[in-house]
Amino acid sequence: MERDLAATIEARGVGLTFDAGLEALQEIDLSIDAGSFVSIVGPSGCGKSTFLRLVSGLSHVSTGELTINQLPPIEARQQQRQLSFVLQDATLLGWRRVWNNVALPLELRGVAEADIKTRVEESLQRVGLNQMANLFPHQLSGGMRMRVSIARALITDPGLLLMDEPFGALDEIGRHRLNDELLGLWCDRRWTCLFVTHSVQEAAFLSQRVVVMSAQPGRIRAVHEVDFPYPRPRSLRTDPEFGRLVARISEDLEG
Ligand SMILES: Nc1ncnc2c1ncn2[C@@H]1O[C@H](COP(=O)(O)OP(=O)(O)OP(=O)(O)O)[C@@H](O)[C@H]1O
Ligand SMILES: [Mg+2]
Repeated sequence: MERDLAATIEARGVGLTFDAGLEALQEIDLSIDAGSFVSIVGPSGCGKSTFLRLVSGLSHVSTGELTINQLPPIEARQQQRQLSFVLQDATLLGWRRVWNNVALPLELRGVAEADIKTRVEESLQRVGLNQMANLFPHQLSGGMRMRVSIARALITDPGLLLMDEPFGALDEIGRHRLNDELLGLWCDRRWTCLFVTHSVQEAAFLSQRVVVMSAQPGRIRAVHEVDFPYPRPRSLRTDPEFGRLVARISEDLEG
């Protein structure tokens, strides 16, 4: 299968009003370069998941324009097969072993069996779960399940990865470890990553840019550039300059 190029996302004046009249998003302007890592933080209900659904083509803008590689999201998804989604609750199939869960996207695309085998092994290796291939999801910890869903999301070598609070349920150590792993993978492959989190520290540690949204209707209140170079060492988390940046973002978040 061809490696899709990392995707560019362009939102111009994007608004979304639900049928019941609730205005969830208003005037969202955002350009996301191919291969960049952007996080969104904002109060609960400000429309972060709604925005990811728009990008994924699962729902449609009411006003403005949203494109992925100059195409409407739904067309981008159909033509370029470049979207992967990792949700907060790892949606693994309970009756399939880890190996078969990770293989699923390739099976659905009719990839040859020998090819699937190599790529599943490679993908499980990447997230450090090759020893767990034969277990069922309920035999794993929450963090391991999350890693399986990341392995599954990355197996198609996506150009765009949408992550909605993927590590929200983890303890801090587990979250830090998965942040490090995710960044290692991203530095290697450079897909476009749009990442939603409630943790300002996590957003700043991972991203090149942190978008702060306000509620409601959800708008962009501020955008912070994060200039620390990659690869980012663990020690960055305790760096005073990093701490000041986190504090500035938190101030914007609290309005
Ligand atoms: N299908 C829907 N129909 C009507 N209203 C909806 C629908 N989906 C979401 N909303 C509303 O849109 C607003 C934004 O919801 P959304 O789930 O995007 O918030 P969020 O920023 O992801 O919040 P959280 O941080 O709690 O996940 C909320 O007020 C929610 O009630
Ligand atoms: Mg949400």
